[in-house]
This record gives sequence, structure tokens and C-alpha cells, in this order.
Amino acid sequence: MKKKQKNMKNKQRILIASDIHLCHIDWYGVPTEERMERFVRHVEEEYAKEPFEALLLLGDYSLDHWKWNIKGCWLTEGKSNTRTFAKTYVSRLKKLGVPIVMIAGNHEQYGEALWTELTGYHRRDHLVCGELLFIFPDTFGADLDPTEHSDGTYCGVDVDFVKKIMAEYPDKKVILCAHHFAPERESEEFRTLVKEEKRILCLFGGHVHRSNVVELGEAWGNKVLLYTGNYSYNTGKEADAEISFWGFRDLKIDSDEWSSCYITPENTAVIDGKEIHHPHGVQDEYFSK
Ligand SMILES: [Fe+2]
Repeated sequence: MKKKQKNMKNKQRILIASDIHLCHIDWYGVPTEERMERFVRHVEEEYAKEPFEALLLLGDYSLDHWKWNIKGCWLTEGKSNTRTFAKTYVSRLKKLGVPIVMIAGNHEQYGEALWTELTGYHRRDHLVCGELLFIFPDTFGADLDPTEHSDGTYCGVDVDFVKKIMAEYPDKKVILCAHHFAPERESEEFRTLVKEEKRILCLFGGHVHRSNVVELGEAWGNKVLLYTGNYSYNTGKEADAEISFWGFRDLKIDSDEWSSCYITPENTAVIDGKEIHHPHGVQDEYFSK
């Protein structure tokens, strides 16, 4: 991975978060509402420290649709934590005055009409931000409004959608953001687009709850997929919690140079029965040149 400090002057900054999961589970000894409060406060504090031009939310605000255990609360009790997240917490973040995008994750299998009613946003979207064009395909946009409990159906990128938006903004640099990109399950057409289209700088994805950066290799034009971590739990053992502790990614860009890091604000929690103090940190940084 390329790692080099850059002193970018006219940079734009964007903040990207995912997998926040307002639900019935209190991970790491912190009540879920308290965790939501911390998420909002930490985003606000990040803005105060170094303002960003847009906030991109890449899905999984809830466990409204969920295959396991007590199952998803939308089908069992008609309760939408996604709606609560939008109305209570995103509403507060709107006060920052920057554009916000809120796409759906695999635990939000609401069809577009219901998604818009519950959140005021779209399942898939795009956002122009200065020289940048963010495109948000809906890679879990199949089998929506289900009547059975599931964790969603991965359908991959609708390449026509991406190409259409790119054609509308022929001069913009493109960043692709989705709740999840599974490169091995993607179409040849999408891989070719990412490989050959120089305007596509990189991909951001959530879902895996980790913050690492994956080099996609020559077949993908040596582009990278940057994971956006979580503000809920790490997958795997509880002891893995600190691999990608609660946080979010930023993207900084100045003409042809860009960088991104995963930011973990100062936090406290209980992991494997032990109280931990997680200091403010930065990890999994990536520099484009
Ligand atoms: Fe998630």
C-alpha cells in the first residue's frame, strides 16, 4: 500500500460512515441510544476540528431486516429503527449544513417508496461536490419489501445506472460508494468500467465492519476499495473490537492527489468484561500518490 504524507492545499474533505446499527443490542457495554449520541457528537466534533463538505452514510443504520435470533423488528413488530435514526440523529446532523446522502444497507430492505417515506432519501443516489461526482449504486436492491426474514440479496452494481450518471457529468472525477462491493461477485462489465474509466478514482464500501483498504489489482485498473468501518461492532470475536473500533473514514482530495484515513474518536467501552479507553486514533490510511 502506498503511504506518503502529502501537504494538500486546496483540498476538499468528505466524511463517510456506515454500519451504525441502531437496534436492540448494546455492544461493548454501551446502551444503543448512548452509542447513537456518541456517533452524532463525534461527527459534529470532527466537523468542528476540520470541516467537511458532505456526509455520506453507506447503510446499515438498523437491524430492521434480520435473519437471526429475534429476527428483524420491521416484520415482527412494524418498528423501524431506520426511521428513528433518520428522524432523530440524521436530523441533528443536518444542522451542520452540509449535503447528506443516506443510502440503504442490507438490513434495510425497504423498497424505494417506503425508503423515501421513512428517511427522506433514496436507496441509490448521486452527489456532485465540487470537482467530484459521488455515485451510490444499490447493490442490495433485490427482493425488496420482503415478507420473510433475511439479511438481503446482493445483486451487484447496475452498470447502466453508473454510466448514465457519469455521462451527465462528463468533467467530474468519480467516486463509487455502496453499502457493499463484492468484487468477486461483480459483473465483467462493472470490472471493465472501473478498470478503463480513468475518471473513477476509487470505491468506498461498508458492510464488513472493518476499515482496511483492499488493492483490487490490475484486473480492476489497480483501483482500491476502502472500507468504512463501523459504529457498532467488529465481526468476529469480541476481542477483535479494536481492530476497527467505532469510527468513520474521511476522503481528502486536491486535484489529482487524494488520501483517506479511518478515524476512531476517543471512546470508552467494555470488551470481554474489561473497561477500555480507546484514545483518538487514525488508521488504515491510504495515499493515492
Ligand atoms: Fe452492518
